[in-house]
Amino acid sequence: MEPFAWLSCPDPRLASALRYLAQHPGKQLRSRLTLTCAEVVAGESVPAAVMAGEAIELLHTYSLVHDDLPAMDDDDLRRGQPTLHCAFDEATAILAGDGLQAAAFQRLIDIESVSAEQRLEMLRVVSTAVGFHGMVGGQALDLAAEHRAVPVAQLREIHHLKTGALISAAAEVGAICANASMEQRQAVVRFASAVGLAFQVTDDVLDVTSDSASLGKTAGKDERAEKSTYVSTLGLEGAKQEADQLLAEALNALTDFGERAEPLRLLARKMVHRET
Ligand code: IPE
Ligand code: IPE
Ligand code: MG
Ligand code: MG
Ligand code: MG
Repeated sequence: MEPFAWLSCPDPRLASALRYLAQHPGKQLRSRLTLTCAEVVAGESVPAAVMAGEAIELLHTYSLVHDDLPAMDDDDLRRGQPTLHCAFDEATAILAGDGLQAAAFQRLIDIESVSAEQRLEMLRVVSTAVGFHGMVGGQALDLAAEHRAVPVAQLREIHHLKTGALISAAAEVGAICANASMEQRQAVVRFASAVGLAFQVTDDVLDVTSDSASLGKTAGKDERAEKSTYVSTLGLEGAKQEADQLLAEALNALTDFGERAEPLRLLARKMVHRET
């Protein structure tokens, strides 16, 4: 998948920033989730899920570009390269994020092989996931939780919003592309919400257990910035146990799909037990 391939911009500097992002597209786990959910529901690959997955990757990349800005996490390394605001400048990074967000919605609108109802439903799911009651709200709560200890229930809410919401939406749009029944969709959302939360718990763990070269981003950053994380709240072992429990919860939600959900189970294990 090349989510950035169709993008262009009349401003040469911003266009060059987009090419820079395209050169390091990340692990693309969210779009794989979209494709795999669609395939598991439909029993065959679903062409519409490709563009839906691209839209999700554009939103995810925008979230990282803004997350790294000095006013937010102030990071200088991302995907093994200088962050966008370091390689270019802050204005370019802000505008690139803004433009990627708009481009993601264009991508969803341009999916031709789904009905108008399906398209509208995807727009509803995705716009909610990245908005004030989703990723943006979670990012604000995350920043507000710096330099203080928060109860684990609040941390769960922060992680669910800042990271879980988009991962859950990635799965749900896959199910929508595959014309899932309401029951199937609910199962997919239950599954992906647990995976999404576990994904951020693992991110917190890796920040402590891994190194910058393997991660392609600065390790040990959370402690230095006094972030509230699952590790700072539950300890390393507690955080790992939480991730495993969430993974079990996720797999449990797939029971009714039987054998055919095996690719989704594999992907969930990979997302939670990843090393980068
Ligand atoms: C990192 O996400 C940010 C989080 C929400 C934890 P990924 O680990 O999927 O980052 P990339 O896309 O592979 O760089
Ligand atoms: C990122 O969480 C959540 C986003 C919405 C981007 P982090 O701040 O922990 O992500 P990394 O560790 O910088 O990738
Ligand atoms: Mg952050
Ligand atoms: Mg960060
Ligand atoms: Mg992190």
